[in-house]
Amino acid sequence: MREIEPSEAEWAVAIDFLTRTGQKCDAKRQEFILMSDVLGVSMLVNAINHRRQSGATPSTVEGPFHVPNAPPMDNGANMAADAPGITCFVSGTVRGLAGEPVSGATLDLWQTDGEDCMRISAMSMGLGCAALYRTQPDGSYLIRTVAPIAYTIPMDGTVGDLMNRTNISHMRPAHIHFAINAPGYHGLVTHLFQSGDKFIQDDAVYGVKEALIVDFEKMPSGSKAPSGEIMNEPFYVVRYDFVLERKAQAAAA
Ligand SMILES: [Fe+2]
Repeated sequence: MREIEPSEAEWAVAIDFLTRTGQKCDAKRQEFILMSDVLGVSMLVNAINHRRQSGATPSTVEGPFHVPNAPPMDNGANMAADAPGITCFVSGTVRGLAGEPVSGATLDLWQTDGEDCMRISAMSMGLGCAALYRTQPDGSYLIRTVAPIAYTIPMDGTVGDLMNRTNISHMRPAHIHFAINAPGYHGLVTHLFQSGDKFIQDDAVYGVKEALIVDFEKMPSGSKAPSGEIMNEPFYVVRYDFVLERKAQAAAA
């Protein structure tokens, strides 16, 4: 206030803006988180609080659409059910910094499906693509889903009013959210982004990090999937190895 010295009218506008931001919030919509995201505050707080050693998979914003109590899935099971989109297999390992496999780690996923951006709002009601997988004894995991698509952040609130007064993109490049947890390790909340997405340089919430951009390899119909089955449609294969950092107490034990 000392620095910008607003007029009383300007401050009244600011109060009104904050009031309307609060009024936009309900059990399913969190306009303040969105505001924090588009201002870059969420990424800054994330960076301050997750200073991982080099070699560990970097974190990024959780965002407002995490699905609590996602249904547990067997390794390789299809989390997309009948959701539209191109089938996508994601596989790899969860390991510690020393390379040790992390068995029984939970991978909590959420994402858009391949068509309907609005599923992201349905996701918060538990209707979108979300699931909970566990790593195998060798630290490996196999997920079957559909490829996510880029989507716009919700623009019908005060965040939209703000964005519309700038040239800043309101799009998020296609990504899959992961929250990974295992006893003795620091939890990891991150995304995998699809390389080549046209919004990859302009993420509305500044969440993209180089180490989180992955190739979605397009496989032709008739190819063998990571699950072993021969697919009668084109599909994507994504491979990614997550690296967790042990908690200090665990390392000393
Ligand atoms: Fe997202």
